[in-house]
Amino acid sequence: MNSEEERLQPFEKRILCIGAGYVGGPTMAVIALKCPTYKVTVVDINARRIEQWNSPQLPIFEPGLDEVVQKARGRNLFFSTDVAAGIREADIIFVSVNTPTKSFGLGAGAAADLQYWEKTAQQIIDHSDGAKIIVEKSTVPVKTAEAMQRILSSNQKGIHFEVVSNPEFLAEGTAVQDLLEPDRVLIGSLPTETGKTAAAAIVGIYAHWIPRERILTTSLWSSELSKLVANAFLAQRISSINSLSALCEETQADVTEIATAIGADSRIGSKFLNASIGFGGSCFKKDINNLVYIARSYNLQETADYWEMVLKINDFQSRRFVGKVIRQLFNTLVGKRIVLFGFAFKANTGDTRESPAISVTRQLLEERARVVISDPQALDNARLDLADVENQVEFEPDPYRAAAGARALLVLTEWDLYRKLDYQLIFQGMEKPAFIFDGRNILDHARLHEIGFHVFPIGKPALTHY
Ligand code: UDX
Ligand code: UDX
Repeated sequence: MNSEEERLQPFEKRILCIGAGYVGGPTMAVIALKCPTYKVTVVDINARRIEQWNSPQLPIFEPGLDEVVQKARGRNLFFSTDVAAGIREADIIFVSVNTPTKSFGLGAGAAADLQYWEKTAQQIIDHSDGAKIIVEKSTVPVKTAEAMQRILSSNQKGIHFEVVSNPEFLAEGTAVQDLLEPDRVLIGSLPTETGKTAAAAIVGIYAHWIPRERILTTSLWSSELSKLVANAFLAQRISSINSLSALCEETQADVTEIATAIGADSRIGSKFLNASIGFGGSCFKKDINNLVYIARSYNLQETADYWEMVLKINDFQSRRFVGKVIRQLFNTLVGKRIVLFGFAFKANTGDTRESPAISVTRQLLEERARVVISDPQALDNARLDLADVENQVEFEPDPYRAAAGARALLVLTEWDLYRKLDYQLIFQGMEKPAFIFDGRNILDHARLHEIGFHVFPIGKPALTHY
């Protein structure tokens, strides 16, 4: 076969993904990489985003993503704004549009806003002329698939759509690695023949690179609920350790030693026990709010209250952190230059959604501090998050320039670069007394103390010079 014939070979399957965000983009890039005989198209209503996916400068920063996209793009991976054409030619449609917390009406602040999902279902009906498998990739409230199945089945064309749930567990910053080697892939379907066949088709995609025993198949509802529960459990571990970090600070215990001691118990496990200023990200808060809302809607008040506490502790932790900064800086921040090292909600991403840094900044501004924000990837997003107070904040990518003349440094994101700075040099350029509040416990506190800083970690004794 010559290369021209090869190019014209029909693809074995045509996969479409609606929504080219943090989830849809990387997931489809890896599927395309691993399934070269499938044509994978990603569409989005946001033309700018698609333009970026087609350019050398991808719209999101993820380690390893550039390489994956470069290998597959134009070969069997395509980014487009033509939703209608994409739907027409696809056998399998992943829906990865956003499902934010509702900001209006019934369930405002708690329930998921499914307007984009429903609109997408309607588009699928309008542009389909044959049977398709619809894969729920967005995190959705349990039973959404049922609603979608109903909407899709109401089509007047007699087309059969089978809805399958395949929640995504990737974490930002490690998305490519998580997709290449997931702990598990979850696929939920109806127990009917068509449901099982559809699930098998989705299993067939992942089986290209994931050992079969790591691909779990469940009922549709278990799959949907598992996604919310996985995020709730992860967030709960962080709130658990953070709630105890407050107690450690009162008792001179060390939260890292406690995490190590309890994490050595294989029943507890050592991951996700890093005390911090609190969790951020697009998922944890939204999904717990959603879980709480669902529990309340079934009148399960205790279940709802239990999970709601995870969010309350998270708020408490970031307020507690700012409270400590104010107290230690002699109860006034007016006119003081306070520098945030990190604005992203975690390291290795430019994403700032629900980042605790947003509320920390606003609290500092209320105290009339001069806030300087430094971050290697997240300053563009930070500017958007703080658009209403942009003129009160300085954005400075260079940490040394940011720290010059500062009174306090607040480490809010665990970027590796902050571990490696020359703190001796930084100390020299700061106003005295100089403070470091390590909201991620990533710095060498003893060394900083030796240099002359007053050091305030999370959940550990402070190192001061008083
Ligand atoms: C989102 C949700 O937040 C998450 O709950 C879900 O699991 C997957 O989708 P993410 O990919 O991080 O996660 O969201 P985002 O980066 O906002 O991407 C969603 C994309 O869908 C956006 O690019 C948006 O333009 C697009 N979209 C939205 C459509 O193409 N059509 C729509 O009707 C609505
Ligand atoms: C999370 C889930 O991990 C992932 O499976 C799901 O698909 C989406 O939501 P993500 O939000 O990208 O992923 O990042 P994650 O690594 O879970 O971190 C979430 C937040 O918790 C971050 O702000 C992080 O800094 C914080 N965190 C994490 C802690 O404060 N302490 C820890 O020990 C771990």
